[in-house]
Amino acid sequence: MKVDGVHTRTIWLNDDGWSVEVIDQTCLPHRFATRRLERVEDAALAISDMIVRGAPLIGATAAYGLALAMRADASDLNLANSTRMLLGTRPTAINLHWVVERLRDVLGRAPAQRRCELAYEQARQICDEDVAINQAIGRHGLALIEEHRRKRASGAVNILTHCNAGWLATVDWGTALAPVYMAHDAGIDVHVWVEETRPRNQGAGLTAWELGHHGVPHTVIVDSAGAHLMQRGRVDLCMTGTDRTTATGDVCNKIGTYLKALAARDNGVPFYVALPGPSIDWRIDDGIEGIPIEERDPQEVTTVVGRSPSGELTAVQITPDACAAANFAFDVTPARLVTALITERGVCPATPAGLRSLYGQPAGGIGEKALSG
Ligand code: MRU
Repeated sequence: MKVDGVHTRTIWLNDDGWSVEVIDQTCLPHRFATRRLERVEDAALAISDMIVRGAPLIGATAAYGLALAMRADASDLNLANSTRMLLGTRPTAINLHWVVERLRDVLGRAPAQRRCELAYEQARQICDEDVAINQAIGRHGLALIEEHRRKRASGAVNILTHCNAGWLATVDWGTALAPVYMAHDAGIDVHVWVEETRPRNQGAGLTAWELGHHGVPHTVIVDSAGAHLMQRGRVDLCMTGTDRTTATGDVCNKIGTYLKALAARDNGVPFYVALPGPSIDWRIDDGIEGIPIEERDPQEVTTVVGRSPSGELTAVQITPDACAAANFAFDVTPARLVTALITERGVCPATPAGLRSLYGQPAGGIGEKALSG
């Protein structure tokens, strides 16, 4: 997507041919800044500190992290240590796991002197695959938005989204927002209700920034306003992303997604979830039992980061001193609340049969079918 007219991805290789540059998402929406990653430790920190975030981008960063690791030391020991370090960064998004496992397989079978080159090649491929997948999701989701437009007598199609599942969460295009961008570009009148998404405000900070830069009309609302708007008929459809999808169609996404799906069901509003095949964990049937939910530093709950009147990024405390707080980063929306899944292979019901109709009989590996087919 474009930033001030310049086509930009969220992660790229610098002109030196080895160091990696990422958009520093902790500075957005107030400042566009990038970070240079030179070591696997930099990549791991970028993921855990959410300089990069969003399931597909976490995976892509891990791939380049392993390339940086192999450049420094291509031994078996460093491969094992680096994969362990990257896997320890964030537990919920499955993309991180399949990327690390894919590279561990490929690199583990190669002689040490070939590993660095192979790792960079894999990282490049993973980034390009992500872009192609998201464009395909966009095309399938666009058809759904067109259907909703046909149902309306007049006015904009109102889409509610949670968190940021736009291009900043991926290498480019995004998942849930790819159809929105394509609809806007096709001249469809769309308006997005952007939930702020406490505690890290990915909606208010990132989604609103993205949509604004692309010229898509949008309105930021507090997280608890979504249900009210649905009750008043002011939401035509919900569209979110997912960090991990089970073989049965349960989806795990940013905390608060489940509540929105419940409200959507109560008000007869379709609840769509956009996902790339690599976000499917074929080993898990029950999302509530099987998906690890990240718990982050409670300080993200007790403080809010914003721009001060003098223009600096500042954290302000919003709770009493020494107040206990818990920071659950994700929740699971059961498949029964999901109207349909939008994948790069088409739209399907959130059921085992629906997913199998697109991906075939799962072979058991994480994300495996998405990559092999
Ligand atoms: O904690 P984050 O910001 O990494 O969470 C991101 C999300 O929940 C997105 O909705 C999800 O990764 C899908 S994005 C393509």
